[in-house]
Amino acid sequence: MRQQIAAANWKMNLSFQQAEALLDELLKKPETLKADQKVVIAVPFPYLQLAKAKLSGRKNTYVAAQNCFTKKSGAYTGEVSAEMIASMEVEYVVLGHSERREYFGESNAVLAEKTNIALEFGLTPIFCCGEPLAIREAGSQNDYVAQQLKESLFHLSADQLTKIVIAYEPIWAIGTGKTATADQAQEMHAHLRNTLASQYGQEVANSISILYGGSVKGANAADIFSRPDVDGGLVGGASLVAAEFGQIIDGLK
Ligand code: 13P
Repeated sequence: MRQQIAAANWKMNLSFQQAEALLDELLKKPETLKADQKVVIAVPFPYLQLAKAKLSGRKNTYVAAQNCFTKKSGAYTGEVSAEMIASMEVEYVVLGHSERREYFGESNAVLAEKTNIALEFGLTPIFCCGEPLAIREAGSQNDYVAQQLKESLFHLSADQLTKIVIAYEPIWAIGTGKTATADQAQEMHAHLRNTLASQYGQEVANSISILYGGSVKGANAADIFSRPDVDGGLVGGASLVAAEFGQIIDGLK
């Protein structure tokens, strides 16, 4: 069954003490998740263990890393491997966030390698895609985003693909307060699902969760998530405020 997911992406925010306090606040929320609903919290690497400890035993709630390196281990000072993340029993890893693509030069080919190694170690990648404003204004967003999927994911077997979560995050909507409308999100998500179906068949495509990201807030989450091909959200700024993220969780369908 396709999962509905409210995912937090803390990005590079919060001190250790603030992270602890936010997790404690989130834990005060009554447990309301249905069987097909999940919460995933992507925290900075130094807080993975804290988040795992705090959230263990919390129903349908998981921890994510925000990145991993392409290699298994070795002399790569400062990098963190999928194997390390998996060894902490962290379940998810965000891959290909637009900020990683933009500031760290992560190409579709590099992201194919990261996806492979994440899957090899049993992590579930939350694979991000999305177009910059110029591409949207030129009307070529569908081809652009389909290409991201093709170059990073289409070498996978159907079995591997079903282990992936996709997050569509239009770059012009990230941190700008300018959310895509629910119609724009639905249109792109349907296009992404069709793109997956053309390669893997409709049944596989229907089993993949596709999240929307970009200025999701408590006030707009339920509307965006209500669309048939929108299976939840990947949330930046609003996930740093427990009450906001709580409202977003409640917006899952
Ligand atoms: P905002 O929710 O702050 O726009 O960020 C979205 C995002 O990049 C989540 O990964």
